Amino acid sequence: MSVPPLRLGVNVDHVATLRNARGGRNPDPVRAALTAIEAGADGITAHLREDRRHIRDDDMARLKATISKPLNFEMAATADMLGIALATRPHAVCLVPERREELTTEGGLDVVGQHHALKPFIARLNEAGIRVSLFIAADPSQIEMAAELHAPVIELHTGAWCDAATDGHEAKAEAEWQRIVKGAALARSKGLEVHAGHGLDYITAEKIAGLAEITELNIGYYMIGEALFVGLGETVRMMRAAMDRGRKSIGDKPIGGKSIEGLGKA
Ligand code: PXP
Repeated sequence: MSVPPLRLGVNVDHVATLRNARGGRNPDPVRAALTAIEAGADGITAHLREDRRHIRDDDMARLKATISKPLNFEMAATADMLGIALATRPHAVCLVPERREELTTEGGLDVVGQHHALKPFIARLNEAGIRVSLFIAADPSQIEMAAELHAPVIELHTGAWCDAATDGHEAKAEAEWQRIVKGAALARSKGLEVHAGHGLDYITAEKIAGLAEITELNIGYYMIGEALFVGLGETVRMMRAAMDRGRKSIGDKPIGGKSIEGLGKA
């Protein structure tokens, strides 16, 4: 059985964080996106937060106008953001939960609790031909609801697993890992395309690349930090190599869930 390719989406939010620290034009997240693509990124992710703490409206418009690879527009499910997404027409919209006081996107979207509000929202994006992804925890009820809401894609929140793995909390890391493994298999069995992201570094990206059900990783913070030392192009190449090693390790391992044929195409 052929294993689907694994795409790398590079999140450029924190290039904008750095730029905004001084309020000028540099460093430019669009330049970062172009550099990442030249080095092998398959797509670019950017999160337009309500407080515009990093990416701004103009960045999103420039990204859409400039880059040659798919743009994944992360946003909260609000009427304002829907208007901006429909005007921008990115390849994909990833719906994320958002609280102003959080440092980063701390948990998954509660699609079970918010399914009434999300249903027309997702339908509107589907009608517009924008691929909808729901950023959720690897929780069976959330995954089942994502399928019921006709979202074509989910992105599994890997933050809790990555934090536990990086901090050396082995039992917790293993429990979180098993949730991701089972969640990815369940999602595929429901016909969902499965992405993953949050907190990934070279080690965790290599490991999760060994799950054939997952066809895209979205990675930002760690890569932008690494780029300070070795440059963004080199960081993308190293991340790509880590993902390729993980993918290769699949070999003849049995794969859970439904057929994975045809996956991995943007
Ligand atoms: N995917 C989603 C949906 C996110 O919200 C984020 C963080 O903005 C990422 C991926 C990337 O996470 P990190 O910056 O920790 O790599």
